[in-house]
Amino acid sequence: MSKYAVLVIDGKEYKLPIINGVEGEKAIDITSLRKKTGYIAFDPSFANTGSCKSSITYMNGEKGILRYRGIPIEQLAKHSSFVETAYLLIKGKLPNNEELIRINVLLNDLSMLHEDMKTFYQNFPSKAHPMGILSAMVNALRSFYPEIVDIEESLDRTFLRLISKVRTMAAMAYKISRGHATIYPSPDYSYCGNFLYMMFENPVIPYKVDPDIEKALNVFWILHADHEQNCSTAAVRVVGSGKANIYATISAGISALWGPLHGGANQEVITMLKKIKNQNLKISDVIKKAKDKNNNFRLMGFGHRVYKTYDPRAKIIKQMCDLILSKNKINDPLLDIALELEETALSDSYFQAKNLYPNIDFYSGLVLRAIGIPTNMFTVMFAIGRLPGWVAQWRENSLDPDIRISRPRQIYMGNSTSDYIPIKERP
Ligand code: CMC
Repeated sequence: MSKYAVLVIDGKEYKLPIINGVEGEKAIDITSLRKKTGYIAFDPSFANTGSCKSSITYMNGEKGILRYRGIPIEQLAKHSSFVETAYLLIKGKLPNNEELIRINVLLNDLSMLHEDMKTFYQNFPSKAHPMGILSAMVNALRSFYPEIVDIEESLDRTFLRLISKVRTMAAMAYKISRGHATIYPSPDYSYCGNFLYMMFENPVIPYKVDPDIEKALNVFWILHADHEQNCSTAAVRVVGSGKANIYATISAGISALWGPLHGGANQEVITMLKKIKNQNLKISDVIKKAKDKNNNFRLMGFGHRVYKTYDPRAKIIKQMCDLILSKNKINDPLLDIALELEETALSDSYFQAKNLYPNIDFYSGLVLRAIGIPTNMFTVMFAIGRLPGWVAQWRENSLDPDIRISRPRQIYMGNSTSDYIPIKERP
């Protein structure tokens, strides 16, 4: 043990090893804490807990850095495609030309949905949220593809099946919700192009994939592809650690993402901006409400557990938003409200003192609106993007010899031993 931390309890010293990450992050290794001292570490919501060693994504919340497998997010957004980035996250390297062609072919081959799955859509109530439907359908994939063989080639096929089918499921849900015929991908289009085609093609006005919109969608999904140990990824690692099958595990990730504090924030932002517009609310009043401790309203799309500066993804998506709106000559009144809200919040001492900046969800909904995606599908769009990250993290967790079943401890604060009281004697 070259460098260690010393913990002193009742005068007795315990040495705990120090772990250093490659980018200088520091951790105290407490894996032997309970065994050595009888104590556990108390860290509700895990804000100070490193749950794994990972080689997938690096984030620096103070400097606003995000890299996948070492490559800055800015470079990937500019030069890469979502499929290539997915490969990078899962396999740890960029694909060569041959590999890229192969996975694009497989993504098309695996894109069909079993006809029996289509009946699922009809059996959900019409008001069912698309995230609930997606989570249930991904879980159900296990019944249709029970063979998950633990060899590399078969696993690759399972990953690609998931990435491909989730896209079909989302587009199909949209078509069915509108009462339109469903459409399967065309080999002429890329992964993103095909999603747009499946969403918007119809027999009356054939859809032509616009390269700018396709690029915007690639960027949107690249920016969402991984974000290290966030709420849904932690759920995936925890559920996966119990050796649940990968479909059930990813379904758990989708459910975790649904929450408004996590992926559900992109839908909440648009709901908030619409409310400001429709009710003609004053921006200063909205900011006042967000600061009021007696009110549980929060400025949606602001703040982050890790970023204490501008979210690097938000910077890119904001530029993308400007580009798409101006190129398509869209005058979205919600953008003006968002800009004013951001400017007012960033110059407010409350937001400054707490380092609250826009996160990716603040502007991403405006990009999705410009593409034509309905608001209730925004979090589904996030889920499609996050899928490669969940798969990569699941895989890394499954291969890590230090990982056992996730099982936190607690500090019990309830009644101490008390006797059972028969019902007649209870007060
Ligand atoms: N509006 C007003 N106040 C806020 C906000 C906000 N959006 N976010 C944090 N605060 C305050 C919070 O009240 C707390 O104040 P105090 O110290 O006086 O109690 C302080 O800032 C720290 O907040 P926290 O809740 O302890 O921070 P957290 O790390 O637990 O939560 C968060 C992070 C993202 C859940 C939170 O900032 C939030 O609720 N933001 C709005 C929802 C949102 O945009 N979520 C999307 C996150 S990015 C997409 C993703 O990757 O999931």
